[in-house]
Amino acid sequence: MAKSPAIFVCSACGNTTSKWSGRCEACGEWNTIQEERPVSAGPPSKSLGAAKGRTVPLTDLAHAETPPPRTSSAMAELDRVLGGGLVPGSAILVGGDPGIGKSTLLLQGAAAFAEAGLKVVYISGEEASAQVRMRAERLGLGDAAVRLGAETNLRDILATLEAERPDLAIIDSIQTMWADNVGSAPGSVTQVRAAAHELTTLAKARGAAVMMVGHVTKDGQIAGPRVVEHMVDTVLYFEGERGHQFRILRSVKNRFGPADEIGVFEMTGAGLSEVTNPSALFLSERGTPAPGSVVFAGIEGTRPVLCEMQALVAPTPHAQPRRTVVGWDGGRLAMILAVLEARCGIPFAGLDVYLNVAGGMKVTEPAADLAVAAALLSAREDSGLPPETVVFGEISLSGALRPVAQTENRLKEAQKLGFTAAIAPRGGKAGDASGLTLTQMGDLTSFVGEIFGA
Ligand code: TYD
Ligand code: MG
Repeated sequence: MAKSPAIFVCSACGNTTSKWSGRCEACGEWNTIQEERPVSAGPPSKSLGAAKGRTVPLTDLAHAETPPPRTSSAMAELDRVLGGGLVPGSAILVGGDPGIGKSTLLLQGAAAFAEAGLKVVYISGEEASAQVRMRAERLGLGDAAVRLGAETNLRDILATLEAERPDLAIIDSIQTMWADNVGSAPGSVTQVRAAAHELTTLAKARGAAVMMVGHVTKDGQIAGPRVVEHMVDTVLYFEGERGHQFRILRSVKNRFGPADEIGVFEMTGAGLSEVTNPSALFLSERGTPAPGSVVFAGIEGTRPVLCEMQALVAPTPHAQPRRTVVGWDGGRLAMILAVLEARCGIPFAGLDVYLNVAGGMKVTEPAADLAVAAALLSAREDSGLPPETVVFGEISLSGALRPVAQTENRLKEAQKLGFTAAIAPRGGKAGDASGLTLTQMGDLTSFVGEIFGA
């Protein structure tokens, strides 16, 4: 048989090419392209049912199946991110940096779903069963009704799952799994794809939910979670800053619920504990309000979250001033600086600008624009905003303020946490958040004039 030609695969995004290059042309990552042998198609798979290859009228299905019952656990933050509980037969990917707490989260999740009545199997390819057992004891879950397995061979895992028929199987991690009919090393794109495909197919066929851990890797030595994102129903990322104990579980894709939902946890000596009021947590480190610090009333998924935007502006010793951002988008910062200069005549040339979202939070909403602009101005003018004030609103390139969604929810959350005033774009509906003094403005110039008297 003729040897099939080699293909070159990016371990970050899974893009394939016929020749090697230093940089992936699809995702732009460096040093992630590896040579792999393509998998032969093999014999056609055995039919999973009589309906194979045939179609059915959509209208017939509407009444045939009621929505699957979801299972809720005692971990409300995990349920929320899943879209309101675990859906049978769903495939879920939990990605995150090594050491962020994925195994801890899923072991606690395993125990919580077992408690809720599901049959749960936890398969670790990274740690021996005794190690998982030790961790469970440390987490106070020594007597949880979870079955453990330490296995990396995909064929054996599938056989185990067929035999034990769990409702939920946890695979830690997808990069350690290894299919013996695929010629490349564990962790390679081909292996990770094959393992994810087999496990997802099993989940669909047997109605068992599968949760897979995927390590995010920077060096491209092993394939990252992006490679399997499109195969699964739900993609969750577990994020956090090294120096902080807060961890955020964020859904970036969910076929069974809203995306962009977050669950907030705190890493303690006895595992992850749920944070039911994230705003209080993100604002807890706030001391006396200082110039450059502004509280942003944001929305994460379906829930309002307040967090503090901190800016520092200082004369630069360099020819090219620094722009450093933590927890927000650097491109968006450049845009706000440009709008402030072009529309309000406030230059930042010759000044270093640092922007930080306090508490290790990552903000992606454009609604944070006005809070960022307020923090930058406050730092530059060295004057604080009126006390106990929250700010939100999107800024357009023309300098106009655009109303944002869920104004009422933002205001209510601010009121609940003791804020007395809010600055927002004109047009948003305040509803019955009447305890706050709401100032609504139409453009950035009037904001600058009113707050900073410039
Ligand atoms: P782990 O779940 O092993 O991370 P991952 O699976 O994402 O690689 O968690 C690793 C870190 O969590 C480790 O540095 C120690 C910390 N940790 C705690 O602080 N408290 C705990 O109770 C546990 C189990 C871990
Ligand atoms: Mg782990």
